[in-house]
Amino acid sequence: MRKKWQLWIGGQWREAKTYEPLYNPHTDEELAEIGQAEPADAELAITNAHETFQRFKSHPAHARAEILAKAADIIDQRSEECAKIIALEGAKSIRNAREEISRTVQTYQFAAEAAKSNYGEQIPMDAAKGGENRFGFTIHTPIGVVTAITPFNFPFNLVAHKVGPAIAAGNSIVLKPAEQTPLSSLLLAEIFQEAGLPDGVLNIIPGKGEVLSKTLTGHPYVKNVTFTGSVEVGHIIQQQAGFRKLTLELGSNSPLIIDEGADLEKVIEPSVMGSFSYNGQVCISIQRIYVHQSLYQEYLDRFIKRTKELVIGSPLDEKTNITAVISKKSLERLQGWLEEAVKEGAKIECGGTVEGNIMAPTVLTNVNRDSKVFRSEIFGPIVCIFPFDTLDEAINDANDSRYGLNSGIFTPSIERAFYAAQRLETGGVIINDIPTFRIDNMPYGGWKDSGVGREGIKYAMQEMMEQKFISFKLNEHF
Ligand code: SIN
Repeated sequence: MRKKWQLWIGGQWREAKTYEPLYNPHTDEELAEIGQAEPADAELAITNAHETFQRFKSHPAHARAEILAKAADIIDQRSEECAKIIALEGAKSIRNAREEISRTVQTYQFAAEAAKSNYGEQIPMDAAKGGENRFGFTIHTPIGVVTAITPFNFPFNLVAHKVGPAIAAGNSIVLKPAEQTPLSSLLLAEIFQEAGLPDGVLNIIPGKGEVLSKTLTGHPYVKNVTFTGSVEVGHIIQQQAGFRKLTLELGSNSPLIIDEGADLEKVIEPSVMGSFSYNGQVCISIQRIYVHQSLYQEYLDRFIKRTKELVIGSPLDEKTNITAVISKKSLERLQGWLEEAVKEGAKIECGGTVEGNIMAPTVLTNVNRDSKVFRSEIFGPIVCIFPFDTLDEAINDANDSRYGLNSGIFTPSIERAFYAAQRLETGGVIINDIPTFRIDNMPYGGWKDSGVGREGIKYAMQEMMEQKFISFKLNEHF
């Protein structure tokens, strides 16, 4: 793999003014030098994307589908190389990285199918007086330049959730990947070129969010902004983007309810994995677990036992579950939040220790509901467990959050499952599984501060297209 990466604009590698080293979060070794885009580079990329869009918008759907399907094939063929990049730059365990690549292949396949299924709607015109003898229907047309700002935690698949639907819809894109994981995105330049994507449709400009976001969100050629990341940055982007289409996929402190009568045999493994997979650095990672009193002690004991068995080590080791968190800054924040939680009454049941850049998986009980580990998004390997008496109490506690992405409930009762599903204030309710469940064609997005709009290819495309209503009046009677 090359060591020095320029900016990918208009189908060419262009020199950046400055380069910054990219480090492996697990070993602190330097992996590459990454060109840092400046606002002028973002402007150039947007202008190029705008010019390319004038041609690409008439690229037929079957050809766009073919490009996306070919990209999926190339990623599949290069899957081990791609997984290794995620493991190196993101410190994701190699098994989780392989899972991500296999999802990415599917995501681009879904995008290829969606490109060919861009259906409008027929409107029953004669339902209204004055609508007689008219046909009415909608079509969806590409919106123009889409800017995508993506997070470090799924550097292939969450990029695919923006690049895939943008191309499927016939748009051009300027992608600013996460500062911590730009290599996974830069590789796409090569992959999409080989897949036959016309030059200028996909532009990739690594750099700092605070330097680029004003241009990326506010430039007049930009018609849609799609961002995944923190609520704080989401709010800034919303203000900068102003009056244009916006998709914000933000954080969460996802709750899981384990109801009376739940079969712990089926609950322990997924709930441990959903709390600590990729060190909890997942938007739908389990942060708050509510367990019915009748199961609480047994659940807690078994949860702790399984947590202690998780293997801490190098992301490249096949057995590893827990690795370095993404940065020292993140580690310091997690340690600070943990200290604060303990001062405010929390008990550390296991974990709480740090070695190198790794925080051991940590289980807390007796957490004060004003502590940050309860109120804010942890995005690290810490989970809080609480007992509850009534289902209403668990639902109210789960809803006691500014977030609302996914929630989960394990229950043997279909009545209680639907009762909870109706009341939980989240974009997705996952019954008999963990909130960390996601497949890539389901609608995915949050209520409250967890975001605006939905992803899941078809849903993301709706945000990236304009709808046009067409009416046709019959003048003649034969
Ligand atoms: C996220 O962290 O928002 C994505 C989770 C996933 O795709 O599994």
